[in-house]
Amino acid sequence: MRIGILTGGGDCPGLNAVIRAVVLDGVGRFGDDVVGILDGWRGLLDGGSRPLGVEECSEILTRGGTILGSSRTNPFSVEDGPARVLARVRDLGLDAVVAVGGDDTLGVADRLAGMGLAVVGVPKTIDNDLSGTEVTFGFDTAVQIATDAIDRLQTTAESHHRVMVCEVMGRNVGHIAVHAGMAGGAAEILVPEVPFSTEAVCERLRRRHAGGRYFSTVVVAEGAVPAADGVASGADGPDGADTDAFATEQEAIATDPFGHRRLGGIGAELAAEIERATGYEARATVLGHIQRGGSPTAFDRVLATRFGAAALQAVHDGDFGTMVALQSARIVRVPLGVAVGHPKTVDLDLYRNVAGRYLG
Ligand code: F6P
Repeated sequence: MRIGILTGGGDCPGLNAVIRAVVLDGVGRFGDDVVGILDGWRGLLDGGSRPLGVEECSEILTRGGTILGSSRTNPFSVEDGPARVLARVRDLGLDAVVAVGGDDTLGVADRLAGMGLAVVGVPKTIDNDLSGTEVTFGFDTAVQIATDAIDRLQTTAESHHRVMVCEVMGRNVGHIAVHAGMAGGAAEILVPEVPFSTEAVCERLRRRHAGGRYFSTVVVAEGAVPAADGVASGADGPDGADTDAFATEQEAIATDPFGHRRLGGIGAELAAEIERATGYEARATVLGHIQRGGSPTAFDRVLATRFGAAALQAVHDGDFGTMVALQSARIVRVPLGVAVGHPKTVDLDLYRNVAGRYLG
């Protein structure tokens, strides 16, 4: 078969491991030709592609990023986009496409599958917000990076008797915040799924100090929103709904071709508010794209490799319109529509009854 592979959306560690698995298995086991589509769906609009052989994939397993490049191009927001994509697939002589991406990239794959594209999805994102799979590759690496950062913030917080606010990524869900916050022994973990009260956070910090703990680390997800108590965040709600009147009034806020607003800033706002309300010195750290860069963890390398191999098998089985997924430690296939229908949010039992009991 002649198989195209593309990586779309925000990059994350493990993308190269998927590409490598598809090429090694495709060429070595099935005798396929593999074509790398450049920069996500953009490559099927603008024509960017290159042949991928075993040679191109040596030494890439451990490398972050993606050798194919990525973009947030949405063919459905471009005139004649879907038709151009399908025509390009025909021109390239592709029998199938493996699309590696998050909800946006795979949402496009799902719609194109409905128009006849032979496509299989692979779930990628540090946010871990895709439904149908217990975990996406990239998440474990991001959590490890955030945990390492929180460990470091704890020691400087202790030295200076400060409150350190650590803003982590995750878009409209709090998986990174919950896992890294638990692993790092944070005093507070704030997630988009549960609007927080700044006053209640300050009160808990005051109680810690009164109990002799003169430093705290607060982990806040970039999409966390305060309950109506005056701190603006610029976030979408967990279901994508607007929960922040302040942000919607800001005409200049950037949105991507899928309509997502650029998040960030809640950490600095919260740190300022904590310092004002409690008098404790507070600092904010935004981890940002550090969480997406660099080498994948062993877990992500293995998961990405398993996903790549399973996607290729799905292609050869003709099981199109599906996404490979991890369920109970096994790789399964789910319909793309299940994966992108609605975001997988934080388990509130884990958040309230497990993470909540073991705050630092
Ligand atoms: O979806 C992955 C992610 O890293 C989010 O956590 C974050 O909000 C967004 O992408 C950042 O996107 P960009 O790299 O386009 O700024």
